[in-house]
Order: sequence, then C-alpha cells, then structure tokens
Amino acid sequence: MDILTRKESGVLTIEFNRPDKKNAITSAMYQLMADALKDAEADAAVRAILITGKPEVFTAGNDLDDFMKNASAGVGDRPVAQFMRALSTAGKPVVAAVAGNAVGIGTTMLMHCDLVYAAENAKFSMPFTQLGLCPEFASSMLFPAMVGYQRAAEKLLLGEAFLADEALDIGLVSRVLPAADLLQFAQSQAAKLAALPASSLRVTKALLKGGQAQAVQARMQEENKHFGEMLGAPEAKEAFTAFFEKRRPDFSKFA
Ligand code: COA
Repeated sequence: MDILTRKESGVLTIEFNRPDKKNAITSAMYQLMADALKDAEADAAVRAILITGKPEVFTAGNDLDDFMKNASAGVGDRPVAQFMRALSTAGKPVVAAVAGNAVGIGTTMLMHCDLVYAAENAKFSMPFTQLGLCPEFASSMLFPAMVGYQRAAEKLLLGEAFLADEALDIGLVSRVLPAADLLQFAQSQAAKLAALPASSLRVTKALLKGGQAQAVQARMQEENKHFGEMLGAPEAKEAFTAFFEKRRPDFSKFA
C-alpha cells in the first residue's frame, strides 16, 4: 500500500509509503488520504491526525507521470482537490512530521496543518514556476500571510528549496528536531491532543483559523483554475519531460 493508515489511541496516522518513487503522490494515494480524512471527521474515536512520511523523504509532491497523463482533466474535483479540501476544512487538529524532501504539495499541505515538526534533514520547496505551473491550494495566500510577502515571493517565484532552520525561522514549521526524535515527538504531541477535550480543540482551531476559511476556499478555486490550465500547457510538458529525461528544461522557446 502506498498510503498506510492506522487508528491508535485516538490518533489517525497517515503515512506516505512509496519510497522507491520518493513518496510521489498519485491520484489513488490522494483518494485514499481524502477518504481517510473524511472518515476521521465523522469518527468520534479519532481526536487528532498525524501525517508523516519516511525518515529520508516526506514526499516528492505530485506524481509527475500522473500529472502528464491527467493534464487535460485540470484539477476540478479530482482526488488531490478532495484531499486538500478535507485537510483544509478538518475540524480536528492535524500534526505533520516532515523528514527529508517536502516538494510542492508536500510543503503546501503543511500550511493547512496545525502543528508542523521538521527533522534537521527536512528540505522544503514549491518549484511550481520551475514546472511551468503556479501556486496551489491557497499557498499564494497562506504563505505570505505566514512568512511575509518578500520571503514568500522569493520561495514562490524562484521555487528554490530551503532547509529546516530557515523553515523554522520564517515560521513554516513549529519546531526542528534531530531526525531520530522526530516521529516519536510528533506522536507524543498528537497523543497530548487526543487526550484533550475534543470540543475545546474544535472551537480553538476554528478560532485560530479565524475568518479566513471562506477566503482560503475561494483562493483554492482561483489557483486551481490557473493550475489546471497550466498543466495542459507546453511549458509544463517540457518541464515534466525534462525531469524524466534527467535533463534541465528549456523554457527559452516559450514567450
Ligand atoms: N513524480 C514521479 N516520479 C518521481 C517524482 C515525482 N514527483 N519524484 C521522484 N520520482 C521518481 C524518479 O523518477 C525516480 O524514479 P526511477 O528510479 O524509476 O528513475 C525515483 O523517484 C527516485 O527519484 P530521484 O530523482 O532519483 O531521487 P533523488 O533522491 O535524486 O531526488 C527529489 C529526490 C525529490 C529531489 C527529486 O526526485 C525531485 O525533484 N522530484 C520531483 C519533484 C517535483 O517536481 N514534484 C512535483 C512538484 S509539483
């Protein structure tokens, strides 16, 4: 199974488990995660959610092969959108434990989580412009609000990777830990949440998210429209083909 889920002591754990492809996420994996989150929302026995990957990689982001095959379908109500809608509207607290690369949606999804812990080897990137794409799932709104416009612009316009210390410094993650301690610490934080009154957590999270819930959903739709169009454009095709051909993309032929 490329996604492992388990419910234990009030915590639903969702684990990326496709290490041979650096945990790149396919539509089937998004669907499994979307279903797990929807199920968790309705299950009173689940009081907190933990999302994690492997010690060497969180996720390489969207599976680029999947992207190429489904380019004409846009984003719409595809499994990725279902997953991100479920994550962004989750009433229960979500903890993320990030080790290794968190590419694209691997970084974007953290903006919708509540407690984000990173290992010292964590590396974050949102290489959308390098792929001929644009930000997704409200990152163009949440990221500048979180870290400030200039820092967000540098990351989103250049798409370059940054390390755990910088992620902590700019406020993308809550804490950085030695790699060997990450999962256990994140699990203990999730267990603490699971032991607290669910009603208090629900109201506190809703207050923290404040009045931005509607704006977040609206921005997601706006971004998805652009993203869907760009997925089918030649720039993205060149970027994806270059990745699999293990060469640098050549965007010079596009205006
Ligand atoms: N989609 C599909 N396959 C992917 C993938 C992705 N996003 N990321 C990695 N893979 C595959 C590679 O094609 C390779 O497959 P192969 O063994 O059959 O050749 C395998 O996973 C290992 O990847 P590799 O690039 O050799 O690993 P690395 O450790 O050198 O680099 C990354 C790791 C994550 C930095 C690098 O794989 C990468 O940049 N991936 C693409 C990230 C990306 O652009 N994601 C989309 C964001 S929207």
